[in-house]
Amino acid sequence: ATGLLADALGRPLRDLRISVTDRCNFRCSYCMPKEIFDRDYVFLPQTSLLSFEEITRLARIFVAHGVQKIRLTGGEPLLRKGLEALIAMLADLRTPDGDRLDITLTTNGSVLARKAAALHAAGLQRVTVSLDGLDDATFRRMNDVDFPVADVLDGIRAADAAGLGPIKVNMVVKRGTNDQEILPMARYFRDQFGGRIVLRFIEYMDVGASNGWRMDEVLPSAAVLQRLQALGELRPLDPTVPGETAERWAWADGRGEIGLISSVTQAFCHDCNRARLSTEGKLFLCLFATRGHDLRALLRSGASDADITSALAAVWAGRDDRYSELRAAQPAAPAGGERRVEMHYIGG
Ligand code: GTP
Ligand code: 5AD
Ligand code: SF4
Ligand code: SF4
Repeated sequence: ATGLLADALGRPLRDLRISVTDRCNFRCSYCMPKEIFDRDYVFLPQTSLLSFEEITRLARIFVAHGVQKIRLTGGEPLLRKGLEALIAMLADLRTPDGDRLDITLTTNGSVLARKAAALHAAGLQRVTVSLDGLDDATFRRMNDVDFPVADVLDGIRAADAAGLGPIKVNMVVKRGTNDQEILPMARYFRDQFGGRIVLRFIEYMDVGASNGWRMDEVLPSAAVLQRLQALGELRPLDPTVPGETAERWAWADGRGEIGLISSVTQAFCHDCNRARLSTEGKLFLCLFATRGHDLRALLRSGASDADITSALAAVWAGRDDRYSELRAAQPAAPAGGERRVEMHYIGG
């Protein structure tokens, strides 16, 4: 049976974010700080990971219940061996109306130059690249593995040339660390790509439990917007789909648009339609959840599609998560609570 789901707050299920590996070749301080993710850190063993067949089986069930967009995340998803095969399997799925899915991927861009063409050939439609600055020294400091910015820019150009658009570039802004890169980034992506690339500024969030988040390192989107006005006039745009993360603004001179993702100062939980599947098959209902629902156990115990469908329907029906809104109402993080899931594990 197919049917659309609504959670306890009336929110549909539209967006499935699938983490395909918990590993990453970067050590961004706000996500996988070196002190914690060091040589001794134990990542998931191969047998824990969902196979491509398991992922596709779950995705098919989710799509039957309203999912229209699938985003592959990590860690760094391009480190998962043979990812093109998974993309091809997901690209074959159709919605109940017979439509193709929006299939995309969030990457740090480090191996994109090499892989863009093959990803596109496999059925990937677009990519989002994380990039926290253009200045090489600043970028090397942010990724904390001395990775050169030029290689990521090569990756973005390769993705553009391969037709993996519209490309989005995500910049996490940390006040005092990379906020001086806001204007150079805005200028570069407005001028270099004929308005084809959407640069989005993300408020530094208190995800996970290891990044030592502090409110004074958040630069509110309102301040980002104010700084951008030095480059020209921006006009607000309507959302393209309900429940979008970014508030969109267009350059008045027609040279493309930018986005502001303001999870800290302007929570967008009220229409959050995103579910997250972890690398080992746990379903998380919120980026800030402390626990997930073990779908892998169901899969590996011989459950039928109908069994999995009823489990999904029950879990979604009980969903009342709205962490960012609650935090906005009460800024101090609850002390002594359960450990929140880490970003590198759930993929942002
Ligand atoms: P598009 O469909 O391309 O607009 O993608 P998206 O904005 O849904 O996903 P993306 O991975 O590009 O997310 C951009 C930023 O928003 C990342 O830093 C995410 O961690 C953050 N983000 C995405 N979804 C959520 C969410 O549900 N809650 C919160 N608080 N942040 C989110
Ligand atoms: N706050 C905001 N964004 C974050 N990301 C990772 N950690 C954080 C954080 N603490 C971003 C990455 C990537 C996306 C998946 O999430 O930079 O763009
Ligand atoms: Fe890797 Fe992305 Fe996390 Fe940086 S933010 S450590 S690139 S997963
Ligand atoms: Fe959705 Fe949770 Fe993010 Fe709110 S905090 S938008 S409920 S994932």
